[in-house]
Amino acid sequence: MKKSLLIALFASLTYANDVYQTHKTTLPDLKMPESNLTFKMIEGYQDYKIVATHFRTDKNEIRYILANPIGYNALKEKVKKMPEGSKIVKIGWSVKTMPAFPTALEADKIQRIEYMIKDSQNFNTNGDHWGYARFVKKEGKYMAWDKGTKGCISCHSAVKETDYLFTKLQSTH
Ligand code: HEC
Repeated sequence: MKKSLLIALFASLTYANDVYQTHKTTLPDLKMPESNLTFKMIEGYQDYKIVATHFRTDKNEIRYILANPIGYNALKEKVKKMPEGSKIVKIGWSVKTMPAFPTALEADKIQRIEYMIKDSQNFNTNGDHWGYARFVKKEGKYMAWDKGTKGCISCHSAVKETDYLFTKLQSTH
């Protein structure tokens, strides 16, 4: 084997240790009533980039907001209208005291995974062109939220000016 080939092979092997492992977990086969969006439509969301962290004091829940590449780049560019295919995912965890340091809190159990997808063809009656889906986790099992999407649409209307998103890219520097 040529020396250059060996170097390339070695480089790719070392590089492999430094990249994200693609998540192979399969999401449960669930569908959100009204929007008909499935959980599987965000398969691989664990590899999306984190956009922001929120904490709801009333729900005592820590939340990560993540976005697929289309959504992430648009948020970074601060576009007025998010492009088609943007997916914004929210993961919510309950919190517990960190055993080794009681004044610190850490994430405990996942309580929900929800998302918004920009899809004007399928969601052209909302006014916002976002589809909404929520999957709640109870006793280790996911279920589709059974109350539909009217609540999502009406509450998110409060932030119409920012394309119905509360989230903005959180500064990391
Ligand atoms: C009563 C108001 C309210 C309702 C109802 C609501 N949301 Fe939200 N949503 C918020 C707020 C406030 C945030 C930002 C804070 C946070 O992360 O919790 C948010 C954030 C989000 C985000 C992250 C993107 C963004 O806009 O910041 C997604 C995705 C999301 N909500 C999905 C949903 C879905 C799906 C439903 C319905 C099943 C829903 N929301 C219902 C208030 C609401």
